[in-house]
Amino acid sequence: MSNNSAENIIITRSLIKNFKLDKDTIVKVLTGVNMKIKKGEFVAIMGPSGSGKSTLVNILSTLETITDGDVYIVGSNLKKLTNKEYLEIRRKTSSIVFQNFSLIPYLTALENVKLPMILRGEEDKTATAKAVSFLESVGLYGRMNHLPEQLSGGEQQRVAIARALAHEPKIIYCDEPSGNLDTVTGREIISLFKQLSKEKNITVVMVTHDHEAAKQTDRLYILRNGKLAEEQVSILNKRRSERK
Ligand SMILES: Nc1ncnc2c1ncn2[C@@H]1O[C@H](COP(=O)(O)OP(=O)(O)OP(=O)(O)O)[C@@H](O)[C@H]1O
Ligand SMILES: [Mg+2]
Repeated sequence: MSNNSAENIIITRSLIKNFKLDKDTIVKVLTGVNMKIKKGEFVAIMGPSGSGKSTLVNILSTLETITDGDVYIVGSNLKKLTNKEYLEIRRKTSSIVFQNFSLIPYLTALENVKLPMILRGEEDKTATAKAVSFLESVGLYGRMNHLPEQLSGGEQQRVAIARALAHEPKIIYCDEPSGNLDTVTGREIISLFKQLSKEKNITVVMVTHDHEAAKQTDRLYILRNGKLAEEQVSILNKRRSERK
């Protein structure tokens, strides 16, 4: 265990990620990423297209492997975990919200949110009650028995967030969560993440191309040339405090 675990829920040290395309071609995406994220923080990751934002978030959420360096999630060094422990980390700590919502099309909003709880063996009645409360907490009232195609984009993203909450995660990763939404609806979704991080003390790591969305967060990382820089944080925070 890392002695930083209580403070920092995510730590990376000199994180390197290469993709091997064939025996002669290696794509060097992350060339030494250092980051520390505290419990309950809402953090944005920005950077040019192809800079490795999705790759980084996929590594943190254990969907993608590491080439070199260290990643600590809730104090556990991902490199040192057995397969079983690795899956436990994935199941117990994090949830992911994607740009395309990735809801199951033939299940209603309520059923989509219930699914993670049913899969982990919760009783139907309990799962229903919790799913209703998660849907209410994302502001989705009265649409619970609609199929995804019967919901607007913003409503579908709310369902996806409620489903993420159903995992009872310590961390929510979101990769351009407002990328498929209009500006106003996108901003509402970002406000929702902000609220979740503050009220439920959930750590939210969000990839975004939207500067306005990034201003809603506590901190901003910029990914460039395979490394993270934090230089714009103070500027954004200053602007935010001026607005208050
Ligand atoms: N599985 C893979 N195999 C080979 N190369 C990959 C793979 N996944 C990503 N890459 C490469 O890694 C680089 C970073 O990709 P990534 O998807 O992380 O970028 P991104 O910052 O999320 O971009 P965008 O803003 O367009 O979503 C790109 O050059 C991409 O082609
Ligand atoms: Mg991406």
